[in-house]
Amino acid sequence: MRLAKFLAHAGVASRRAAEGIVREGRVTVAGEIVLDPARDVGEHDAIEVDGARVALEAEHVVYMLNKPAGVVSTARDTHGRPVVTELVDAGVRLYPIGRLDADTTGLILLTNDGELANRLMHPRHEVPRTYVAKVHGGFVKNRALERLREGVQLEDGRTAPAQVRQVRPGVLELTIHEGRKRQVRRMCEAVGHRVLSLRRVRFGPLDLGRLEEGQARRLKATELRALKSAAGMMRPHASVRPARRHNRRRQ
Ligand code: URA
Repeated sequence: MRLAKFLAHAGVASRRAAEGIVREGRVTVAGEIVLDPARDVGEHDAIEVDGARVALEAEHVVYMLNKPAGVVSTARDTHGRPVVTELVDAGVRLYPIGRLDADTTGLILLTNDGELANRLMHPRHEVPRTYVAKVHGGFVKNRALERLREGVQLEDGRTAPAQVRQVRPGVLELTIHEGRKRQVRRMCEAVGHRVLSLRRVRFGPLDLGRLEEGQARRLKATELRALKSAAGMMRPHASVRPARRHNRRRQ
């Protein structure tokens, strides 16, 4: 198996991030620094990241966290700010699936399953994410809502159309399928409404529900199945219908 893939499976980081970690010279195989993420390794090789041995983990877990404002959604922060991984007591090393801005609150997933994380973040799967944005300027006029629905021109290109509804004056619920940096904030600003607060309430098939800010919980089996299905890792759960009986009368 390729070294970067091994690190992703071992829960160190997503595959792409693992490639970076290797290139930074932080990984040794049998005591020697390896800079090639494609280097072939096996589960019996002594692989260390930053001097700590890593091994393939037996069980993959996924947690949902209601991220508070001020917490950074990386596994480590160079500025010493609190990070999301400190809020989840899973007993295994986790990392976040994607990012929320430090000042955004709400649903973020953490896992040690590198493949699931990679797939969920891949644009091909277009996992919808729903946000509730409180915006400056009160009532948002129809024209602005229409522009958000059509897609707005941002400095890094036009956004895909969003689903948008005004929950109450000045509070929008937006569903987008892309994961560009500060996308919702920039979209709202582009139509004249600066975002005052932003909360993610849904990620793919998962709802934040009543999970309190700062609290985390492990996904239920049904939620995990739905998430894997959204990531294209399994066929959607067939509806459970009893097999039709062929009790035609014998002629
Ligand atoms: N869009 C944003 O602007 N910020 C986030 O944190 C997530 C989506």
